[in-house]
Amino acid sequence: MQALILAGGQATRLRPLTSRLPKPVVPLVGQPFISYMLEWLGRHGVDDVVMSCGFLADGVRAVLGDGSQFGVRLRYVEEPEPLGTGGALKFAEDLLDERFFMLNGDVLTDIDLSAQLAQHERTGARATLALIPVEDPSAYGLVRTHADSSVEEFLEKPGPDAEIDTNLVNAGAYIIEREVLAEMAPAGSVISIERDLFPALVSRGLHGYEASGYWLDIGTPERYLQATFDIMEGLVHTAVGSRLAGAAKLLHDGALISGRLVGPAVLGEGCEIARDAIVGGSVVMGRDVKIEAGARIERSVLLDGVTVGARTRVTGAIVGAGVRIGANCHVEDGTMLGEGVRLGSENTLSAGVRIFPDVSLPDGAIRF
Ligand code: GDD
Ligand code: MG
Repeated sequence: MQALILAGGQATRLRPLTSRLPKPVVPLVGQPFISYMLEWLGRHGVDDVVMSCGFLADGVRAVLGDGSQFGVRLRYVEEPEPLGTGGALKFAEDLLDERFFMLNGDVLTDIDLSAQLAQHERTGARATLALIPVEDPSAYGLVRTHADSSVEEFLEKPGPDAEIDTNLVNAGAYIIEREVLAEMAPAGSVISIERDLFPALVSRGLHGYEASGYWLDIGTPERYLQATFDIMEGLVHTAVGSRLAGAAKLLHDGALISGRLVGPAVLGEGCEIARDAIVGGSVVMGRDVKIEAGARIERSVLLDGVTVGARTRVTGAIVGAGVRIGANCHVEDGTMLGEGVRLGSENTLSAGVRIFPDVSLPDGAIRF
């Protein structure tokens, strides 16, 4: 079975994490995000993947290559400029099979695609959308269905005045019959699958499949951290989560731990935790991360090569590769530090502050 993955968005809501790194390959608990999708698709018989890229496409290709390390055949289509979700689909038409899965490239999920496919075959649908219940549907595509699972209405990001009488939203996982592409504007046009194609297919073979299981769109910093914690706690079915369930801590070679490490935690190669420092729980560190004496790291992600100075506290933060944080700082509560940031000592960053790549802040520059 084939899958088309949309991975061409600019991921502005995840900047500065995505300022230089495309969202599909942003590391999540030690592996590129998209590898979780490939693992999930593989469990449902997908062996051929077409990746629809645009923004920072070379970055995706450099990390994923031909897909052999993930056990799938991986091909890329690269839009010269963003064509929208529907435009990306039409642009990939020449590579597509008669029937294929299509996925938004930013969902962490373990919903049952095989059951969705079985329903698609049973109903004879032309397209079947996975639907998932969420607390606040207004940020998603709202979908109302009839009792026979056919879609009654598809309303992308309903405004505040819209009547919201269902919590079922578009989960960004579709099964599509290639023949529906014949109805779309020609390749090269900007098209929204949510605003143009799906509303046009209502009453004409568009069905919804009510999925259950774990589902999260990782496209904001809060949700990226949530996904990190959920993988570590085993709330979503993943290989790394299963390994953590047995061990609580996954350490790669060369870790030097003089302080304390509290699980769940995942540490890359060459990490060092100095004496009196405490790391964990729910901490992910990339390769060569150095935590100096007396520092405290909790519920945070520190990418490759980060250094945290003595007695600094990092809680609920995302710290980009190569960042150096000085001594006696507080970095907390949704703070994001872009790649290469230099933060002098005695700084307090909090409440979702985002510092863009390579910025240097002197000692004591920011306090709350
Ligand atoms: N190739 C390509 N070209 N991909 C794109 C483009 C484009 O122009 N625009 C967006 N994408 C990709 C993004 O990279 C992402 O993987 C996916 O399409 C969805 O785009 P988002 O920007 O993340 O959309 P959203 O999260 O606001 O809303 C979508 O997902 C929700 C579920 O997470 C919609 O499909 C909603 O209906 C849905 O509920
Ligand atoms: Mg999204």
